[in-house]
Amino acid sequence: MKKTMDIQRRRLLKYTGVTVAAAVSHPVLVSAKTAAMKNQPSPNFNPDAEIELKMDSVRIPIFDGKPTRIWKISGNVMKGNKNVLGDIPGTYLAPTIHLHKGQKVRIYLRNNLPAESILHWHGLHVPADMDGNPMYAIHHGQTYVYEFEILNRAGTYWYHAHTHGVTANQVYSGLAGLFIVSDDEEQALELPSGQYDIPLVIQDRSFDRNNQLRYISHMMQRMQGFLGDRIFVNGEPDFKLPVETRAYRLRVLNGSNSRIYKLAWDDGSPFTVIGVDGGLLERPQRYPYLMLGPAERRELWVDFSDYKVGSELTLRSIPFSASGHMMGGGMMGGHRGGMMGGGMGGGRMMGGALPLGGDYPLFKVKVVKQSQGHQRLPERLTTIEPLHYKEAANADHPRRITLSMRHMSALLNGRSYKMNDVRADEVIPVNTLQVIEFDNGFHHGMHGMMAMPHPMHLHGEQFQVIKREVNSRHRRGYDTVEAGLVDSGWKDTVLVMPGEKVTVLKPFNDFKGLFMYHCHNLEHEDMGMMRDFLIK
Ligand code: C2O
Ligand code: CU
Repeated sequence: MKKTMDIQRRRLLKYTGVTVAAAVSHPVLVSAKTAAMKNQPSPNFNPDAEIELKMDSVRIPIFDGKPTRIWKISGNVMKGNKNVLGDIPGTYLAPTIHLHKGQKVRIYLRNNLPAESILHWHGLHVPADMDGNPMYAIHHGQTYVYEFEILNRAGTYWYHAHTHGVTANQVYSGLAGLFIVSDDEEQALELPSGQYDIPLVIQDRSFDRNNQLRYISHMMQRMQGFLGDRIFVNGEPDFKLPVETRAYRLRVLNGSNSRIYKLAWDDGSPFTVIGVDGGLLERPQRYPYLMLGPAERRELWVDFSDYKVGSELTLRSIPFSASGHMMGGGMMGGHRGGMMGGGMGGGRMMGGALPLGGDYPLFKVKVVKQSQGHQRLPERLTTIEPLHYKEAANADHPRRITLSMRHMSALLNGRSYKMNDVRADEVIPVNTLQVIEFDNGFHHGMHGMMAMPHPMHLHGEQFQVIKREVNSRHRRGYDTVEAGLVDSGWKDTVLVMPGEKVTVLKPFNDFKGLFMYHCHNLEHEDMGMMRDFLIK
């Protein structure tokens, strides 16, 4: 594999924190009880920024009337530039963390919740004991000390709870926020910045008559995952985005537990995608629609300079079956019945509002002001070194991970999550490139209601998607661009549709220890669709 300067620099980097990973051996692994929790700062780690994040159970006003009980992460900067923490004020979301590549950060996570919890930095390449593995969950009153260097390139990452069996409920309750990384190369591009660089966290929620969050009440709902009846953007219902007649950088995160969106502008404008999960694409790419699974990010260049002041535009989620994207067995259409549509769909149980794959608005853009500023979309954004299949250590024996659902459990290679239960096929030699295939009924097919898309996420370094194949019994090959699936660039989460096999190439460099891989439909994750890789 071609080593960039960057990778070599990283190899030289000595991580100074105490790492539990060093004590991990196979097959007897470190257990949750014996894992040395990191609750002391290391004297020889010199952070550029030191922040404190507190998790509390609080009430905040969301609607008129009664305030809503949420689990809120609040933060303050103890050392370093105050801009490291930006808030999305007045909402249930956690503060946005802003750091530059190469910076070192120490984060004190204090748990004031009536439950155990731990945070994971989604998409960031950090040592195993900094990664928020559920075995590091801390109890009420405890503090976890994170210390790591930002090794990732500029991009829109995020962080959220990752607690054993209750990740979905904790993220739903509010334990999630953005983690935005900048770097020199990206800054030299002079993309729209400041108030013209806007994150958009899209989530769905449900509330009872007392304005309290309503979560899943019926077992069957866990199989499809939580589907709310209201869309929130940046923690607000009925979100409106006022814009000027100029270019914007919009960073869209699907922060929902399980809802997949197919984004479309209501005036038919195409999307100009400049980045995905792991940062900028090599060049801007056009898509008519954008399919966005849970945890995925898309960075968009949106130019409103052709719009008149006063005009309005709506970002919608449209039916998945539009533009020829059929789902396995017609499960997702919303018209043909089945799990996701009418049948026993979330719609009816959750109040009938927003079936998965339905047609509903997400938020409105209102053009409020003429702008003089004129900005040109760069033709080239960065260089992405393609990974090569033949350079993978297991090129002859790709690791296949089959995705399946059965009797209230969701499985990877037929196994359910268990702490410290690494099998031989889950051990990966450090500093290797690996081929991994996610098989969602591609080889053996699947039955009726089990046909579901799974947004597969791998902790650790970002990967590249190199192939997406479709089982012809499910449907004919299709145009992924038409379908809105963006498979280019660096990714950490990839939506694997029913009947598909998606092949990715992923480097496993630098850090040893346990790193999770799982479905990011958070209900599936909690139902067991999660495993650990042991990198050694
Ligand atoms: Cu965003 Cu293991 O998760
Ligand atoms: Cu899943």
